[in-house]
Amino acid sequence: MTITTEDELEALKAIGRVCAIARDKAADALRPGITTAELDAIVRAVLSEHGARSAPEITYGFPGASCISVNEVVAHGIPGDRVIAAGDLVNIDVSAELNGVFADTGASFIVPTADPKLAALCRDGKRAMWEGIRAVKSGGAFADIGNAIGAFAKKHRYTLIENLASHGVGNSLHDEPSEISTWPDRKERRRITDGLVFTVEPFLSLGARYAVDAEPEDGFTLWAEPEAPTVQFEHTIVATKRGALVMTTV
Ligand code: CO
Ligand code: CO
Repeated sequence: MTITTEDELEALKAIGRVCAIARDKAADALRPGITTAELDAIVRAVLSEHGARSAPEITYGFPGASCISVNEVVAHGIPGDRVIAAGDLVNIDVSAELNGVFADTGASFIVPTADPKLAALCRDGKRAMWEGIRAVKSGGAFADIGNAIGAFAKKHRYTLIENLASHGVGNSLHDEPSEISTWPDRKERRRITDGLVFTVEPFLSLGARYAVDAEPEDGFTLWAEPEAPTVQFEHTIVATKRGALVMTTV
């Protein structure tokens, strides 16, 4: 989606805010003993309260309102009867549609008592996302995003998942442009056009480089390969000449 009118911007902001509220409300409920299905029910309640619909559900028939990925699961975890324990690393990814406009956001959290290394990973995962967001400017190169995140990861000795890319969003959950690398990618030659709406969602890890299917395959769940703690932070942004406008905030 490319934003050309104030009304389009307001519509994107509205669904961005709903996604952010749902993400934060589920995160606030994170504690040992809660199940991923209970977290998902919180997301679903916020979405329906605002008249919004879960994007993965209506787009892919995903069995849940949100993707909730715990520990060894890196992305697209299906909410269910898994019970959250102290020290778990939990990613909550909320994407939804309101009045035909889609937004997408995600964040990772460590359930206390946290391992200091995992707490640092969470903190740095968010910093990596902001490094990428700060590299966005209309007229600039998409490659700047992956290069900025790559420099941060290298400096702090993390790895990046290199097969889960960011994407256009707005008219659909996965809109054009597709496959925006959040790692250094010499094949990325595209320029960022003014008003373009897309996500910035790096996956920072203590050693993983790929997200892969594993047994039992359910068509959604992705595991870290090699297995290592991994976090993801994601915002939906609009590119302008002066930088990125973040849409998925409360
Ligand atoms: Co997402
Ligand atoms: Co996304």
